[in-house]
Amino acid sequence: MSEKVKFTIDGKEFTAPKGQLIVDAAADNGVYIPVLCHMRDLIPAGSCRICTVKVNGRDMAACTTPVDDGMEVQNNTDELLDIRKAIVEMLFVEGNHFCPSCEKSGNCDLQALGYKYQMMVPRFPYAFERRELDATTPKIFLERNRCIFCKRCVRLIKDDESKSIFAFKGRGKTLEINIDRKLAANMSEEQAKKAMEICPVGAILRKEVGFIEPIGTRKYDKVSIGSDLKINS
Ligand code: FES
Repeated sequence: MSEKVKFTIDGKEFTAPKGQLIVDAAADNGVYIPVLCHMRDLIPAGSCRICTVKVNGRDMAACTTPVDDGMEVQNNTDELLDIRKAIVEMLFVEGNHFCPSCEKSGNCDLQALGYKYQMMVPRFPYAFERRELDATTPKIFLERNRCIFCKRCVRLIKDDESKSIFAFKGRGKTLEINIDRKLAANMSEEQAKKAMEICPVGAILRKEVGFIEPIGTRKYDKVSIGSDLKINS
């Protein structure tokens, strides 16, 4: 059996296997820490920082930091909630997000976090970057306006030889998500669906299946993000 450690989140004591990432240890103990780029069992990317917590007084990404014995984690403070809200606002102004016309509306983690943190008018100016769309592959439509560069697709969607079907190109302002046309031509139906599903926004769309879930039945129509966990800040 793996060694257990004791740690606290907002003063409450919990246990978890030594080395487990804070975000997963928190979820296993019923505590919600928001994530966008993180997925359990994927190599952490630590790119979005929405999971920022204080660990022994220092700001850390909960998805890249393992729990340790005696660790004190703060998750629900006004300062951290405002940092998360600011990150959501930043992601909204960096891309071009028009929720009412988005196929992922109601199933989008970024939109759900916008509601959760009661985002109204972002504190940052909109960038209105011009981003090209890509509809050249048989099953996938890449809506780059909505990409938040979480890298989930790059890390998870691979062909039979473990080659990534998605990849980033460029850097800084020219950074964009791309799809390998040759590999994408052989994508299975399941892979295409999975790619759309794991994208936390509406940047990866399975062609011909937009808006199939009626309003009222979508993932976040009835419950807010993270509400499946008992301690939800
Ligand atoms: Fe931790 Fe993105 S969820 S950095």
